[in-house]
Amino acid sequence: MAAPRPLLFLVAVLTFLEAITCVVWAQMSPQTIYDDLRAILSSGSEVVLKEDPTYTRDFTPRYNTAGEPSYVVGVKPALVTDVQRVLTYAVGSNISVLATGGGHGYSSSLGRLEGGINVDLGMFSTVRVDSDASTMTVSGAVRADQVATALQATGMEIPVPQCPCVGFSGATLGGGIGPYSGLYGPISDSLLSVEMVTGDGQLLNVSQTQHQDLFYAIKGAGFNYGIATSLTYRIYPATNGGQAMNADMIFSGSLNGSLWELAKQFAATQPKELSIGFSVRYSSEPMLNGIIITANFIYAGSQDAGVELIQPFLDLQPLYLNISTVMWKDIPAVAHNGAILTVGCKPGIYYIPYGLNLYQIDVQNIISVVNYMDNAMTTDPTLRGASVVWQQYASYGFNLQAQDSSAFPHRDTVAFLSMALGLTQPKAQR
Ligand SMILES: Cc1cc2nc3c(=O)[nH]c(=O)nc-3n(C[C@H](O)[C@H](O)[C@H](O)COP(=O)(O)OP(=O)(O)OC[C@H]3O[C@@H](n4cnc5c(N)ncnc54)[C@H](O)[C@@H]3O)c2cc1C
Ligand SMILES: *[C@@H]1O[C@H](CO)[C@@H](O)[C@H](O)[C@H]1NC(C)=O
Ligand SMILES: *[C@@H]1O[C@H](CO)[C@@H](O)[C@H](O)[C@H]1NC(C)=O
Ligand SMILES: *[C@@H]1O[C@H](CO)[C@@H](O)[C@H](O)[C@H]1NC(C)=O
Ligand SMILES: *[C@@H]1O[C@H](CO)[C@@H](O)[C@H](O)[C@H]1NC(C)=O
Repeated sequence: MAAPRPLLFLVAVLTFLEAITCVVWAQMSPQTIYDDLRAILSSGSEVVLKEDPTYTRDFTPRYNTAGEPSYVVGVKPALVTDVQRVLTYAVGSNISVLATGGGHGYSSSLGRLEGGINVDLGMFSTVRVDSDASTMTVSGAVRADQVATALQATGMEIPVPQCPCVGFSGATLGGGIGPYSGLYGPISDSLLSVEMVTGDGQLLNVSQTQHQDLFYAIKGAGFNYGIATSLTYRIYPATNGGQAMNADMIFSGSLNGSLWELAKQFAATQPKELSIGFSVRYSSEPMLNGIIITANFIYAGSQDAGVELIQPFLDLQPLYLNISTVMWKDIPAVAHNGAILTVGCKPGIYYIPYGLNLYQIDVQNIISVVNYMDNAMTTDPTLRGASVVWQQYASYGFNLQAQDSSAFPHRDTVAFLSMALGLTQPKAQR
């Protein structure tokens, strides 16, 4: 039976209204979002239009400008209840939303976020160490160097990323690796519990006993399940009195084959206290000119024992050598001659990184990569910002937890590589 005309008309009007509502939703003006958020958030919170110069001044800059998310409004919540309100509002209004911790994320999908709200966790910046309980609780935006400084002061340690400016929660949610991972595994293995605001605005305690499935996921695949406001970790008494050997070397590219041979030999028996790093890049310095390999060795033990261990590398007679004993907390700042600190902490780089895991070291294969780089970079100077960074940690720490204990999938990795093309020119000139 056909519906009477007036009813059809009503249906049409309702459909039309619904369509308009959707359009209004999708196109909510930045000013409306700003006004709405200002009205619901605590007075200590900061709400700023992306266009406002205050945004650039107050909000955490992104390290990588390649494929960055686009925001219309920035929020710095002061309280956990503010985080709950922003998420409830954004989800309810169909507006994209993303947390910012240290701003060092570079997932290639980040650029798909458009017209969103940036929830900068900058006001969540405390580290609390409980040495009696051997635990540490950090707020959502604490950076790696804050963790290292606080732990060194109490005679404790935990693996921290090689770059001191990386957000500690951001690193943890993706697993997180650093020199002391040889001793303790990925950072996420030391996570005990997390207070997290989920997309529906709930505040959950997430741990091995509460919301266990979520706990599994956030240890290694943790982005976008919610916003972690507070994270509690197991911490460990400092190894070697909180000191380590740092050895930096530079080798000419012609020795690359010997270096990969040694790396392969070490991989089989690498002591848990030793981490090995290489960076393959192009040097325009007249003395070096061409492909060089910088090598870095960190040993959580005495300098004498460390030097004995790395003797095979010393026997290759590096062009440059600097061996010293440093405080554990200073490793990220001094390793690779301080390069990570100067390059890794300066936001605004246009950077295209690709992660790559090696599950075995195939010497011939890596030689051909180096030769390819040599060829390409010699012929095309615009490629000279490219590099391959290699981190080789002992398997010991990674094998302390079972493969199925968390979403972290890289326990059997022999070397973590990152191939990156770093370009310094601004986006517009690309
Ligand atoms: C120069 C450089 C060196 C690096 N070195 C290392 C290294 O040695 N070891 C290592 O493991 N990693 C390293 N990384 C990778 C780094 O750990 C990840 O990119 C990490 O996700 C960055 O976190 P962030 O908070 O600084 O970045 P952001 O861009 O602020 O965040 C990255 C992602 O994590 C989410 N996020 C951050 N904090 C929270 C939170 N509290 N709650 C919920 N979600 C959150 C964000 O929403 C985003 O999706 C390095 C990165 C760079 C750029
Ligand atoms: C939510 O927004 C997206 C685009 O940002 C749009 O594709 C989708 O239709 C919207 N959903 C609703 C229910 O309006
Ligand atoms: C989470 O756990 C802490 C400590 O056990 C407790 O004080 C807090 O109330 C809990 N929060 C929620 C939301 O359950
Ligand atoms: C890398 O090592 C191989 C093997 O020793 C050598 O033949 C090659 O020339 C080296 N590559 C460069 C760029 O020096
Ligand atoms: C050697 O390294 C240490 C720290 O690791 C640094 O303080 C020192 O300046 C370096 N020496 C040279 C000559 O670069």
